Amino acid sequence: MSKVLVTGGCGYIGSHTLVNLITQGHEVISIDNFMNAYEKALDGIREITGIRVKNYPIDLCDAGELARVFDEHPDIEAVIHFAALKAVGESVERPLLYFRNNINSLINILDQAVKHKVKNIIFSSSCTVYGQATDLPVTETTEMKEAESPYGRTKQIGEYILKDIARLKDINVLSLRYFNPAGAHPSAKIGEAPRVIALNLVPVIMETAAGKRDKCLVFGDDYNTRDGSCVRDYIHVVDLADAHTKAVSYLLAGKNTDKYEVFNLCIGDGITVLEAIRAFEKVSGKKLNYEVGPRRPGDVVAIYSNYEKAQRLLGWEPQYGIEDIMRSAWQWEQVREY
Ligand code: WQD
Repeated sequence: MSKVLVTGGCGYIGSHTLVNLITQGHEVISIDNFMNAYEKALDGIREITGIRVKNYPIDLCDAGELARVFDEHPDIEAVIHFAALKAVGESVERPLLYFRNNINSLINILDQAVKHKVKNIIFSSSCTVYGQATDLPVTETTEMKEAESPYGRTKQIGEYILKDIARLKDINVLSLRYFNPAGAHPSAKIGEAPRVIALNLVPVIMETAAGKRDKCLVFGDDYNTRDGSCVRDYIHVVDLADAHTKAVSYLLAGKNTDKYEVFNLCIGDGITVLEAIRAFEKVSGKKLNYEVGPRRPGDVVAIYSNYEKAQRLLGWEPQYGIEDIMRSAWQWEQVREY
């Protein structure tokens, strides 16, 4: 049983990963200051696993506070670093907020990892690092292009920082690049709960169906795709969580051949916005009030990947598809209290 520190453990992907780590026998601690998360996620995790996770509600940018957590837990074997600001639009308006928060927190974690000889780090990266990719599917060898937003740039910079540290120190790093995470735990005890207004497609569909907003606007149906709407690779959050546990095992077993490795986590299949809406209508039995509107500035027409590398090296493959995503997200939407 190894001890894993999860930053952002009360957030969307972090909470699902805590559940998966606990279920697979790991000891966990969490750091989350509830900037974009709710303490109630800890209740949901306890209801699913029977374990009350110890969470430190500190700001990762506070080096002194972070040092105290590492001092208290000299036996941490791996860190999974989720905690970050992630609203693309906000990052365009407030780039310094994003650079200060996402980069300083990473640097503070690396300082502590070096000091306490924590050798394994898993970084929450994103398909956004590929920018406007033209050759599909993108793979781990597809080169990064100019980031579309300061948020995307913080993920690129984070990856470069980690690559340089892994080269220099006794630290192994995996950067996991997620495509479009969606869905919720099948128990409906935890799920996505943005503190700010939902902007991503699946939460927007859920809020519309729940009557929290009037309609779902489809951003364009005149793209060169099979039905004219944009194509994305939607990956179930439970599958993503499982990939993190497998990534921890991979590093702890010393299976990595490089000190810095990258994995794409996706379903390997492109789904259009209209197909996603139809999947929701099928599993919920509800008609969604949607309307086709203009294109959203900055949207790529299509992006999807494959999971060949993660399957080959981590032994991971996604178990769920778009209908499971919609079913679980809808169950969560109907019971969630936050
Ligand atoms: C999906 C599709 C929209 C809302 C973002 C980030 C990216 C990554 C994942 C973290 C697009 C369409 C959406 C709506 C719509 N996050 N849409 N109506 O933009 O692919 O990726 O989240 O790293 O960095 O940019 O996700 O869910 O916003 O959009 O038609 O109300 O749904 O045009 O085609 P996106 P999304």
